[in-house]
Amino acid sequence: MANKDQTDTARMEKIVSLCKRKGFIFQSAELYGGLNGCWDYGPLGAELKRNLKEVWWRKNVQEREDILGLDGSILTHQAVLTASGHVGGFSDPMCDCLLTKARLRADQIEPQSGVAYHYTGASHEESGWSVERPYSVLLNQPNQDENKARKTAKEFYAQFLKDKQISFKQLSLHGETTSEEENVTNYNPENGSLLTEPRDFELMFKTQMGASADENDPNATAYLRPETAQSIFVQYKNVIDSNRVKLPFGIAQIGKAFRNEINPRNFTFRSREFEQMEIEYFCKPEDGLALTDQWLENRLAFYDEIGLDPEKLHVLDVPDGERAHYSQKTYDIEYDFPFGQQELEGVAYRGDYDLGKHQKHSGKPLEYFDESTKERFIPHVVEPSAGCDRTVLALICEAFDEEDLTKQDGKQDIRTVMRFKPAIAPIKVAVLPLLKNKPELVEKAKEVRNLLQPYMNVFYDEAAAIGRRYRRQDEIGTPFCVAIDFETLGEEDPSLKDTVTIRHRDSMKQERVSIKDLLTWLLTRIR
Ligand code: GAP
Repeated sequence: MANKDQTDTARMEKIVSLCKRKGFIFQSAELYGGLNGCWDYGPLGAELKRNLKEVWWRKNVQEREDILGLDGSILTHQAVLTASGHVGGFSDPMCDCLLTKARLRADQIEPQSGVAYHYTGASHEESGWSVERPYSVLLNQPNQDENKARKTAKEFYAQFLKDKQISFKQLSLHGETTSEEENVTNYNPENGSLLTEPRDFELMFKTQMGASADENDPNATAYLRPETAQSIFVQYKNVIDSNRVKLPFGIAQIGKAFRNEINPRNFTFRSREFEQMEIEYFCKPEDGLALTDQWLENRLAFYDEIGLDPEKLHVLDVPDGERAHYSQKTYDIEYDFPFGQQELEGVAYRGDYDLGKHQKHSGKPLEYFDESTKERFIPHVVEPSAGCDRTVLALICEAFDEEDLTKQDGKQDIRTVMRFKPAIAPIKVAVLPLLKNKPELVEKAKEVRNLLQPYMNVFYDEAAAIGRRYRRQDEIGTPFCVAIDFETLGEEDPSLKDTVTIRHRDSMKQERVSIKDLLTWLLTRIR
């Protein structure tokens, strides 16, 4: 995508609709109007997400000698998050539009210039109603009609009317004055209304623990973790002591994280509950920068392997001043989503910041003893931190395809295909008897299903014409369909007895494979 902000809303709408229709992703508590920023994975989404996590875990933990796994608790001691700087520090400056109540990130408002109209209050002559409170509107276009500012101001004051029969148009404004404004950020760019002063908005979910949970008891307060990383830092010493590991080594974790995001948006992209796949890779200080580069390459290769187009992945070398204060180097890996180029993962060199903080706050030594040099030091950390839900969303966006086809009768048709890599696809194979009213075909098909089921996720379907059943599988991304047909029964050509038709999702080509070779044939193609 040439332009970072290029979007394709129509494509995104189709993807969101398919996700619901086919059971990939549903809005959480949809029955009750929806829980904003929370999502439930349906039967296919749950399989897809599991497959992604399994590949990530296999590549990063099981196939490596130097990385160990961890599964930490979600409820987090407040001391952990105080030491890490999250308590009191993990917040966004927010302001509210005085007219619409829309909440905006104060640090993301573009500076504006123009003429501000100030008022002291408003009244309604006939009823004798009045209100006195200052309010302002910015007109940021040259030669804008001043009545626009007056209309906005009247709408603002009308909020305080008790008698809702009175129209805002009937109000009189008090004390109008104007001023020239340059590069100000305290007006809503959407409507010119004055905003509240910025306030820090806590991003963490706080909770009370225990039966006698007392708000003032620090030990009764816990947080839902805002990142999985902190339990890794806090357990780093236990992992070393119980596993006799040597630097460099990593601890990996997949798990839920929670952030009270102000504006959850773009489907699952920015959620309030999400999963992370994080590695904290501990190393000697002198190796940190080089390992950050190596991890970047490793992570890009991973995305290629799971089926994201390398052309749609972009690396942003986060410049000085925009990185977290403890990071000497951060790469953001971004992906071309239909709603624009957005972050999938951050690869950050965190130095000794986290272990240093936990050593200081806990008063317990977290140094590493290097047997060869007899030195004691706090290891440095490189952190590849990926979003699991974001990667699932990227996989869905990447896979979605609408292929123009010409049918046998010459009519044009569109085939919807989810082109997942077989290792990621929710269902690996569909087993389809050609006809459901031919007991021999059904019996054979069930035998084949039973043969494959212990090894992979199989879907058995006997309803509708075979062509329609193929299309249903295309739409959910099943890479292979196995049809049990008359040749399988060997009725016409005995040499084809106990062979099946395999139909490939992407090319729609078909080939025959004998049932005895089928399991191996599939296993070699689905990993
Ligand atoms: N431990 C470092 C850390 O948490 P982060 O950049 O805040 O860094 C890492 O988060 C990754 O987690 C992001 O690149 C993104 O993929 C995912 N992530 C963060 N906030 C998210 C949200 N609100 N919804 C979905 N994924 C999110």
